Amino acid sequence: MLDPISKFLFRHHHKVERNVSILLIFSFLIVTIGGIVEIVPLFYVDNTIEKVQGVRPYSPLELVGRNVYVREGCYTCHSQQIRPMRDEVERYGHYSLAAESMYDHPFQWGSKRTGPDLARVGNRYSDEWHVRHLNDPRSVVRESIMPRYSHLANTDVRTDDIADHLRTNRIIGVPYTDEMIADAKADLIAQGSSEGDTTALAERYPKMQARDFDGNPQRLTEMDALVAYLQSLGTMVDFTQYEPLSHENLR
Ligand code: HEC
Repeated sequence: MLDPISKFLFRHHHKVERNVSILLIFSFLIVTIGGIVEIVPLFYVDNTIEKVQGVRPYSPLELVGRNVYVREGCYTCHSQQIRPMRDEVERYGHYSLAAESMYDHPFQWGSKRTGPDLARVGNRYSDEWHVRHLNDPRSVVRESIMPRYSHLANTDVRTDDIADHLRTNRIIGVPYTDEMIADAKADLIAQGSSEGDTTALAERYPKMQARDFDGNPQRLTEMDALVAYLQSLGTMVDFTQYEPLSHENLR
């Protein structure tokens, strides 16, 4: 026995399938309703992105490194998105949280893994390893098909436009303060050299790592910036303290 709605649909469905205009109108209606139901609530829910302790805007040097990462197209071979499945969590660490990429414009989740996921590569290797690997991947991983990026070690970081990069990020919602923007250039230089006082820098950007990253203290290169960025990936949230939002703690 069929219920009355199914009976009605059985009897009249052929009319929709045989008339292209009606089919189009109905398809459009259904897709519209589906879209509204899925998308509109996100504008009203405060916790679309759950706030997580530790997530902060990138420091100027990390931001420059991120720009290099985007420019060089690292995202075409590397994802930054650990899915909540056992094989991924065992290989890469805690699954990625939305909040961890909330200050990424554009986000670097990627869609292809020719190489491994990089969401938690920070602190996994030494700076020397990264520099050797980026200069010549085959010198550390013999079978690697990753291209060489040795030009980065010969390219000085541009320091004159960093405040503008921070300002632009602020326009699209990254909470850089006036102080962070005013000190951007000095912070950029301080983080990439082994000298200088970095206390104020560390207060502005907790857990940032300041040192000469590329093994050449005379110059501040794009290699310094990229390695600083890689070393920061996945290190901001302390997962021994993190408790996922559940219905329990929402109450
Ligand atoms: C053509 C694809 C390709 C591109 C483009 C590429 N990589 Fe890779 N990457 C790989 C492969 C394959 C591996 C694994 C073998 C190895 O370690 O070299 C890898 C490994 C890595 C690793 C080591 C990860 C781990 O957990 O062992 C890092 C870090 C890395 N790549 C960074 C980068 C950065 C930064 C860029 C951009 C400047 C980049 N890659 C561009 C293919 C690529």
